[in-house]
Amino acid sequence: MCGIIGIIGKDQVADRLVDGLKRMEYRGYDSAGVCTVEGGQLIRRRAEGKLGNLVKELGGNPAPGTLGIAHTRWATHGAPTTSNAHPHATGEVALVHNGIIENFKPLREGLQARGRRFESETDTEVVAHLVSEQVEAGLSPQDAIKAVLPQLRGAFALAIAFRQHPDLLIGARLGSPLVVGYGEGETYLGSDALALAPLTQKIAYLEEGDWVIISREGAQIFDSENNPVTREITTSGVSAATIEKGNYRHYMQKEIFEQPVVVAQTLSSYIRPLEQTVALPQMDFDLSAIDRITIVACGTSYYAGMVAKYWFETFARIPVDIDVASEFRYRDPVLQPGGLALFISQSGETADTLAALRHCKAQGQTIAVVVNVPTSSMAREADLLLPTHAGPEIGVASTKAFTCQLAVLAALAAHLALCKGKLSAEEEREIVRHLIEAPAALNAALAHDEDISAMAHLVAPARDVLYLGRGPDYPLALEGALKLKEISYIHAEGYASGEMKHGPIALIDEAVPVVVLAPSGPLFEKTVSNMQEVRARGGKVVLISDAEGLAEAGEGCLATIEMPKVHPLIAPLVYAVPVQLLAYHVAVAKGTDVDQPRNLAKSVTVE
Ligand code: M6R
Repeated sequence: MCGIIGIIGKDQVADRLVDGLKRMEYRGYDSAGVCTVEGGQLIRRRAEGKLGNLVKELGGNPAPGTLGIAHTRWATHGAPTTSNAHPHATGEVALVHNGIIENFKPLREGLQARGRRFESETDTEVVAHLVSEQVEAGLSPQDAIKAVLPQLRGAFALAIAFRQHPDLLIGARLGSPLVVGYGEGETYLGSDALALAPLTQKIAYLEEGDWVIISREGAQIFDSENNPVTREITTSGVSAATIEKGNYRHYMQKEIFEQPVVVAQTLSSYIRPLEQTVALPQMDFDLSAIDRITIVACGTSYYAGMVAKYWFETFARIPVDIDVASEFRYRDPVLQPGGLALFISQSGETADTLAALRHCKAQGQTIAVVVNVPTSSMAREADLLLPTHAGPEIGVASTKAFTCQLAVLAALAAHLALCKGKLSAEEEREIVRHLIEAPAALNAALAHDEDISAMAHLVAPARDVLYLGRGPDYPLALEGALKLKEISYIHAEGYASGEMKHGPIALIDEAVPVVVLAPSGPLFEKTVSNMQEVRARGGKVVLISDAEGLAEAGEGCLATIEMPKVHPLIAPLVYAVPVQLLAYHVAVAKGTDVDQPRNLAKSVTVE
């Protein structure tokens, strides 16, 4: 949820730490802070709000030093104030933390009883005091860490600096990601490879329970039993250029427009266009033996899973359960042997989804993950890794990750259907032909950007907006509503269009725009009937359909948005574009912070 970075370097680090925070601001932006070590002092600068405030603070009050740590926060314990901002420090120790120390209350009470005074409401400050206590008692930084880590429950990635040790930083991880970066005479810690992209491409991913001492010469890594261990150093491949905004005004806009390319990129790993066959990675289990699928995910990834449920059931005739990850374990799901548990995640670090994955693994399910960060915890714990190739997604509102997830899930559905003997070679070719058409269809959908921008002012003043869809377009209605609420702060709900008359239709009046997703096809007539029920009650409809659908039902609507005519299989990918663009332009019209909407963070690494 938060982003952390540490540098032990040859040159001054404050600017480079701030630069690293910039690339992690998507992880949280409630406050930010830096602490360097120089002349036997911990030099700490913090500011509430966006990173710009910290930059201003450092402008007037620099933090010199060639060793430092920094943090960008998504608040969990304690308001987003300066005193709750990381780094948290005592006389001897400063540290930054991503995660939650679940047992912080008893630890804090114990520390207070021993006379320690707290200056924040955070869970994190207890760790600073615990380590400091040990250091003050004469232990080395290494021994202090060994004494403290076993006391912590919950999730953490930590970077710790010591006032009297300008030659080392210590990092530790449990439940939250942490990487070590190797430079020339410099070593780094970061929440992800993205944070370190301009500094180094040489990255080692710490495993659960690992802790590490970094110095200018390199890193010594230990496991949870304090045994020295080696973790492979990989080349991250994430370049600083891939995370620039380019000529776009916002990351979200750039990412929406990248979709034709990244969907094509993703598909190229899952289909053979010349042979017109699907091609999944090798797997060391028998997919044809799978007799039930359990899909678990959060937010937008969950909606991709909802679309996939239609595909798995229609093509492969395999029963599918689907849950939001935060609820999954708490209903004590019945997981039969022979089941495939499928997790969908952009980040691969979402705490609820990861916990659900581990639950399923412990229950003997085969684990498949569709994930955009191939080095993430979920990717590393999967039996079957199905990466999306969307590239780094920085905008907090997920866009290109969603369409890439759909591309992978469509190929997986076809592959499963083949394994199950439910798809003929000709049907497989037909599915592949439609998937190949998706990038061009996405381009055609993007060509309506200006039209959507021009009608956004019709939706921007609304207090409530409803989205309706049927079949695989129902998850799209949910996704449209989520996009709108998260970046424009307009209350929005998605409904299965047939459900309207069972209650939500009571909400309809002239002030509530209703966005109807209705590609022409088998479900069109029924969706349009539901739309007419809305209009008959004075509802103002924004109809999104193709030319044929608009000709049939567009008259009298508040606005219409034309989409290319596409096969129903790829309609969910294509219709993602107008709902993304509508949310985007409404947010721009309202002047909200599109890439960093209030209260949100990109990856939710706390439960
Ligand atoms: O990284 P994940 O895909 O696991 O994240 C899941 C959700 O947190 C994410 O989709 C969230 O709902 C987005 N902000 C939606 O735009």
